[in-house]
Amino acid sequence: MRVAVTGATGMVGGQVARAALQAGHEVRAVTRDGPAVGTLRIGEDTVERVTAPLTDRRRLAVALTGCDALVHCAAVYAFGGARAAEVEQVNVDGTQAVLEAAADAGLARAVVTSSSVTCGSSSIPRARDETDHLGAEPAPAYYASKVSQEEVALETGGRRGIPVVLALPTVILGGPFTRLAPSNAIVLRYLLDPTRSTYPGGCNVVDARDVGAGHVTLLERGIAGERYLLGGDDVTWRMLHTLVAELAGLPGPFAEMPAGSAWTVSAATELWARVTGTEPLSTRDEAQTVGRYYWYTSAKAHELGYAGRPARAAVAASLAWLAVSPDLPRWVREGLRLHPEVRAARPLVPGPLPGEPASEPLGAATVRTRPPRSRPASPRRPR
Ligand SMILES: NC(=O)c1ccc[n+]([C@@H]2O[C@H](COP(=O)([O-])OP(=O)(O)OC[C@H]3O[C@@H](n4cnc5c(N)ncnc54)[C@H](OP(=O)(O)O)[C@@H]3O)[C@@H](O)[C@H]2O)c1
Repeated sequence: MRVAVTGATGMVGGQVARAALQAGHEVRAVTRDGPAVGTLRIGEDTVERVTAPLTDRRRLAVALTGCDALVHCAAVYAFGGARAAEVEQVNVDGTQAVLEAAADAGLARAVVTSSSVTCGSSSIPRARDETDHLGAEPAPAYYASKVSQEEVALETGGRRGIPVVLALPTVILGGPFTRLAPSNAIVLRYLLDPTRSTYPGGCNVVDARDVGAGHVTLLERGIAGERYLLGGDDVTWRMLHTLVAELAGLPGPFAEMPAGSAWTVSAATELWARVTGTEPLSTRDEAQTVGRYYWYTSAKAHELGYAGRPARAAVAASLAWLAVSPDLPRWVREGLRLHPEVRAARPLVPGPLPGEPASEPLGAATVRTRPPRSRPASPRRPR
């Protein structure tokens, strides 16, 4: 199949492109920036790249012409009121535009990246599945946008006769990334936190490589109109922070920060970001989810052959990417004592890990040239 992938410059889209190539498909990256037509590096491969903004249905249709299927990963994954309108516009209107364009271009099938948050969360440690939905619980604008995205995707697919399958990844750790997503930021926050705090509740974490492969599984075998959770292990925040501490060679976690304190720290972090004109490393929007359980089962996707690796492997991959990221201040990097399991992830990342010679060859990572965004050195950030 020739597969068009939107968002291929991002973490999920990059892994989808890589998995599609590994499965023997051809890939065309549809991106918002760059020359009208060009190429994009995906690991050690180079794929065709066509530029079309998500606001331009006509150009999108031209960009998709000649492809058999679409995997739509492009979206804004961000929290905070300042970006709420952009989140809604890109995630919902952008999805409608690209699916209309896919139908115009005669594509036979589409997979749309949604999120496990559309299945909601629980006040007790219980795993939810695809029959669950976001209810009357704290929900950042990003969560609401993903619910609306699913609705618009299924409506557009039904109306235009293009089969749509929905992929619902959980918290994705790993890379490639040059823009720190809120998911890897969970790990970064612990590395930056001098108090080594944890908090109540928990989440499900999944390795980015498995999410990429899972999308290809859904592309090949998913049932149209269905939602499929793509996750790994359910963990409490304390379990996750314990893994981060062990694999990074750091102490803790110690005290559990209550939800109210998490909210207060986030408010201060947002204020600081406003003053300095930077992206907040923590938002009140996200802090309101502290204490709940974002636990999910991927049994439905397992039936199609999907498999998620253990949380430990996902955390190791995240630490390897963070260790080579400019998001990690040098003074923190130098204090890490990376576990051999993190060092084993070295072939994934495009530079030497701390303590390795700088002449290490490039790994199989996507190589990109965009400079990283500046970021405040906030001491901690609740989820
Ligand atoms: N990361 C997670 O934990 C997680 C969990 C569940 C679901 N998801 C979903 O996975 C998808 C991808 O997220 P990600 O983690 O890969 O994020 P990411 O690394 O930030 O990548 C986002 C991608 O979307 C593109 N994009 C953003 N705004 C755009 C716009 N206005 N027009 C066109 N393209 C635009 C970006 O292009 P540029 O490179 O040009 O900016 C990039 O390729 C999203 O739908 C997200 O909701 C993510």
